This record gives sequence, structure tokens and C-alpha cells, in this order.
Amino acid sequence: MARTMVIFGASGDLTSRKLIPALYLQFQRGKLPKTTRVVGVSRSEFSDEEWRKQLAETTQKYVGESFETESWNQFAEGVYYVPGDINAEADFRKLAKRLNEIEQDQPSDRVYYVATMPQLYETAAAQLGKAGLADDSQGARRIVIEKPFGTDLATAKALNQSIARVFREDQVYRIDHYLGKETVQNLMVLRFGNAIFEPLWNRNYIDHVQITVAEEVLVGRRADYYDRSGIMRDMFQNHIFQLMMITAMEGPVKFNAGSVRDEKVKVLSAVRPLRGADFADRGVRGQYEGYCEEKGVAAGSQTETFAALKLNIDNWRWKGVPFYLRSGKALSCRTTQIVLNFREPPHLLFENGRHSLPQANRIVIQIQPAEGIQVHFQSKVPDQGMKLRQSSLDFRFDPGHDKSQTDAYQRLLLDVLQGDASLFARSDEVELAWQIIDPIIAAWRSPAAPVMHTYPVAGWGPEASAEWMAKDNRTWFDVCPVIN
Ligand code: BG6
Repeated sequence: MARTMVIFGASGDLTSRKLIPALYLQFQRGKLPKTTRVVGVSRSEFSDEEWRKQLAETTQKYVGESFETESWNQFAEGVYYVPGDINAEADFRKLAKRLNEIEQDQPSDRVYYVATMPQLYETAAAQLGKAGLADDSQGARRIVIEKPFGTDLATAKALNQSIARVFREDQVYRIDHYLGKETVQNLMVLRFGNAIFEPLWNRNYIDHVQITVAEEVLVGRRADYYDRSGIMRDMFQNHIFQLMMITAMEGPVKFNAGSVRDEKVKVLSAVRPLRGADFADRGVRGQYEGYCEEKGVAAGSQTETFAALKLNIDNWRWKGVPFYLRSGKALSCRTTQIVLNFREPPHLLFENGRHSLPQANRIVIQIQPAEGIQVHFQSKVPDQGMKLRQSSLDFRFDPGHDKSQTDAYQRLLLDVLQGDASLFARSDEVELAWQIIDPIIAAWRSPAAPVMHTYPVAGWGPEASAEWMAKDNRTWFDVCPVIN
């Protein structure tokens, strides 16, 4: 069946920077049927031609050398523009009419991608319903909601409820671009496509898990949004929790949306809620030096640009194994990594001298920008008695693959068009995530909030974060991956 993707917020940055380049590259690779149409909707008045021209320029800029005039012209033939205001009911009736014309009254699957300001998500869903655009008797009707999905549990619930008045849950695709990353999916393959790791992947062998999403960038142009959001909403509730769920989940019965998401949700339901003193003891909050002077940041802002959290997942597999999660802006380098730290060998045979204490084994999963896995283990230093040193088995995911071809949006847009929701968040997943994050934000905004540490740009966050780990006799894996 032919497919139409309708993008609300067509004149926005996300559309030109991510959505159109992703659709174009998939078209160029022959992954999108020629009958695919893209219809942009926003308030600006453009003709189809004007929008195509504008997109040709921006797409060229974002896809660089992959841009080819011939394939672009073919793609652009299926690109249309409909001016419309999300708040105007009449505009949705016009849109419905125009879509029927574009589709030449033939049945067609439709995806409504809501890439507008978050305040408009509920209205967009309601208007689609009123105009009869959610009726799926003539082809599938799906809605994609960009992040942020609410700003707390109450707003996420309200948004889920508004959408549910118009669309069934299986029609709703809540996007988290981390799930579209090749290496995140590879983590599932590592765990569930191999037999050698699984027996070790539990409390019997693993001492603790570290998940780090470090960014080098400062808040920059997004300061205004960021200052209202902060690292908990911006990174933990969505991306970091997704990484934690995939690291900790049980093997799903099947690789389909229902089974995968059932297992992920169980992880969040097993997270032990923080209470009382936990808000200070089980977390570290920080702000990089100079943050308050950024344009758009409120004077004396108490918004975190760094946070570390220690969570416990109370189930048979993970009881007693802390998950240390951290993320920050203005850190040493950009790296996303998951480190499984193993227990020490039960009996230390090798004295190893006082100067080189043996370190426990680790599996380091590099998500980005390095993409690979390292297994750290002890080996003997040649010719030095029984002195040990840390060695590493290194594996890189397909070093030859062209990263421009595997951008998360390309994968996710294709999945939506094909109706596969495995890599999208379900309503219960989003709500559970907020249920964990909300009390932390509340405690960290209260008069009794734990101290906000400042940290210099280009380090690994506040010193307090290392000291906090040291209290548990553990150290952060502070390594910027070397990418060849
Ligand atoms: C976004 C956040 O969702 O993810 C940004 O809003 C963050 O603040 C970005 O920089 C990180 O994504 P990636 O793919 O660059 O790791």
C-alpha cells in the first residue's frame, strides 16, 4: 500500500535537520517505495515548489556528499506542503481534503509525525481525531510523538490520555532516538543472540553497572529550553533509562513490540524508589562553571547540567547490584558507554605487589562515538614474576560501515512506516520512568536539596562524583574511547 508521512512542524529545525534527510537517504537507498509521499504542515505560507526548494538546500547541507540531484528530484516529486495552524479546526478539514487529492483517493497508510512545540501535541491529536484523520478503515493511521513526552508524570499521563481518546496504543509511536542507534540494538544482539554472556549477566558475577552518557558540548543555543528542563528530564528519564532497561531486561519471548516492551517495563517496575535521605545519598548534582552566565539561563539557576544516580533493580537477576547512571554536559569528551564491572576473583592467588592491585574484569560496551565492546581481564607482565596487568580484548562493530547510513532517525522512520513499534516507548514505560524521576526532581528543587556542585568544563563532572563512588569502594570508568 502507498504511504504518506504528514509532518506537523514542517518549518522547524527537526524537520530540515533530521526528518527530511533521513527520509531522503532511505529513499535513495531504495528502502522507501517510490509511492511514498511526504506532506509538510506548518503555519508559514509556502507552495509545494517553494518548500521543495528550501528542503533541497537544507538536505544538501545535512547529508553532504550523499546528496544526488537525480534521486533528490525523484524524492521531491512526492513532497507536498499544506499551510495550516494546529489550533484551527478548519485547517484540518482542508488538510484531509488535500491528503485525499495527493493520494488520489486511493487507500494509503498514513503516519502523522508531530514535530511541533510540545505544547501542541495534545491539540494535534485531538484535531486529527475531529477531522476523521485517525480513522484507519482505509489504511493504517499512526502518530509519532517527539520528545519530550511530558515534563513530569502528571503531564505525561494527561498527554497519554488525550492521545488515547483518538488513537489506540498500537497506533502511537513515542520516539526516543537512542533506541534507533545501531549499537543500542546491537546490545540486544550481544545479550540475546549469544550464549556466552548470558550466564555471567547477573548478580552472581557482576558487582555493579555503570552507564555514562557524557557530552562535550555546553548548552549553547538551547539554554532557554535546557534551563527549564535540566539533565534529569533531558537525558535520564528517556535515553539513560532506555540504556538501563536494555542492559537489565530479561530475554523477550519474541522480538516484537509487545514482548520487548513488556520486558523493559518490568525493569522499571523493579527499580527501588528513592526515599528520604536517598535523594542526597544516592545522587550527585552538578552545574558546569559559567552555566549561569549563558544567555537564556536564569540568574542563580539551580538546574543540573550533570547528575549521577545510584539505582537498584530489585529482582532475581539484579538484587544487590547497583546501577550507577551519570550524564553531563561540558565533560571531557562525547562518549556513551555501559560498563559491567565483575566481582573480584574469589581467591587472589597472585600477590601482585602493592603497586598494581588486580582489577576486576569488565565488559565495556561503547555505544557512541566509538562503537564496540572491550573485555578487560588480567594477564601476566612478561618477565616480571607473577606481576599482573589489565589487558583488553577489543571488538569494533563493523569498522567499515558508513555511519551516515545508520542515523537513528532513518531507522526509526522506516520502522514507523512499516508499523514496527519495538523501538518506541509505550505509555506505561514512559509513565513509570517519570514515576522514578519526579520525586528526584522534586527533592532536588526543594529547600532541602542536596548541594549543587560546580565543575570545570572539560573534566568528568564534580569531584564530589568521584568521592561519592569512592565511598562505595568503586571508581568511575573515566575513559574517552580512542576511535580509529
Ligand atoms: C537530546 C537531548 O535528546 O539528546 C540533548 O535533548 C542531547 O541535550 C542529545 O545533546 C544527545 O543525543 P546524541 O544522539 O547526540 O547522544
